[in-house]
Amino acid sequence: LTADQISTVQASFDQVKGDSVGILYAVFKADPSIQAKFSQFAGKDLDSIKGSAEFASHAGKIVGFFSKIVGDLPNISGDVDTFVASHKPRGATHDQLNNFRSAFVSYMKAHTDFAGSESAWGATLDAFFGAVFAKM
Ligand code: HEM
Repeated sequence: LTADQISTVQASFDQVKGDSVGILYAVFKADPSIQAKFSQFAGKDLDSIKGSAEFASHAGKIVGFFSKIVGDLPNISGDVDTFVASHKPRGATHDQLNNFRSAFVSYMKAHTDFAGSESAWGATLDAFFGAVFAKM
């Protein structure tokens, strides 16, 4: 990852990080099996839970951690270890992680001018998910 790619990704993420609910909604919508892993949301209608305080709280945690990863670039190995330690026991699968990634990219395409940051995001997401897949 180059310094240019890092600043591009950080500036791009700044544009959406305030919409954590919208990002988690896009992820659950793209792969309902991810929502099903959350005991508090399993089996519930996504559009009805979207406005709840509990949904906002979880969305804030997940997007907050994503913000930390983006802020820590390029030194994300500690974040990778934190993620693997918490999510391996939860049984998050490679398919679910790939679906999380593509839902996030679709969200970014819909909410930002993604053309200028697509390759920098590709390199960033390859770095994070590549390191995660090597460990779980
Ligand atoms: C928490 C599942 C991906 C960040 C959780 C929880 C579950 C879960 C079940 C616990 C919720 C609770 O009851 O408190 C999954 C699954 C994933 C996934 C199935 C597969 C795609 C991600 C990704 C990130 C993330 C990609 C961020 C990069 C977090 C954070 C928490 C959390 C920060 C709260 C802290 C913790 O309890 O570890 N996740 N998650 N998750 N997840 Fe995920």
